[in-house]
Amino acid sequence: MRADIELLPQKVRTRNGEGKVYVIIDVLRATTTIIEALSNGCTEVVPVVAVKEAFDLAKKFPREEVLVGGERGGLKVKGFDLGNSPREYSREVVFGKRVILTTTNGTKALRSVVGCENVLVAGFANSRAIVQRCMALKADPVMIPAGGKGKFSLEDVVCGGMMIDLLEKKGVSLTDSGRVACILYRVFVHDLLGMARSSEHGQHLMRVGLEEDLPFCVRTDVSSLVPIFKKGSITVE
Ligand code: MLT
Repeated sequence: MRADIELLPQKVRTRNGEGKVYVIIDVLRATTTIIEALSNGCTEVVPVVAVKEAFDLAKKFPREEVLVGGERGGLKVKGFDLGNSPREYSREVVFGKRVILTTTNGTKALRSVVGCENVLVAGFANSRAIVQRCMALKADPVMIPAGGKGKFSLEDVVCGGMMIDLLEKKGVSLTDSGRVACILYRVFVHDLLGMARSSEHGQHLMRVGLEEDLPFCVRTDVSSLVPIFKKGSITVE
């Protein structure tokens, strides 16, 4: 097994994902929100790219069964039930509901791997569980940081580096990109919150009044959930 990471976001990944497991990471905040929603009993998360797509899809389900969530510029979209703060996706709100989610980068990263066999959804919250699943699958892990509008994102690469660090300790070899992510993780391991606060997107969230999401999103190994993205839907087994 060899662990890799795509340091820069790509629009479309190879559809020939044979022997690979793709791990989508958007720590601030889409994948953290997905993990939280599923942990609190939502039945599935359906990621869509466009706001209109979210409204159109929601109309196909009884109103009481569906929640539409997401952000643009970090803020809740007009007419949506929820924004993209994981703190909004409590058990009282999401239990038994289907969530349709659209975010600026995270849901795009997910849609870019549609059709690949093994796609997992990760954040700091479930990083150890994701590593265990990668080892069980015996497939080459490819970390996919969602990034920010096509650019490198510090917090996603550090999270990928955390999982790669664990994989290396289990005897998995690393690509050069994987090694870079691992080194970066080791730089920040003792201050993940400081890292998140110093990141470009962390600073944006602080500017728009969402600072409280940062400590929530860097909580590590608080979930054993392994969300799987298949046929356009994210669920847990
Ligand atoms: C994204 O997908 O770009 C993010 O999750 C944005 C955010 O909600 O902070």
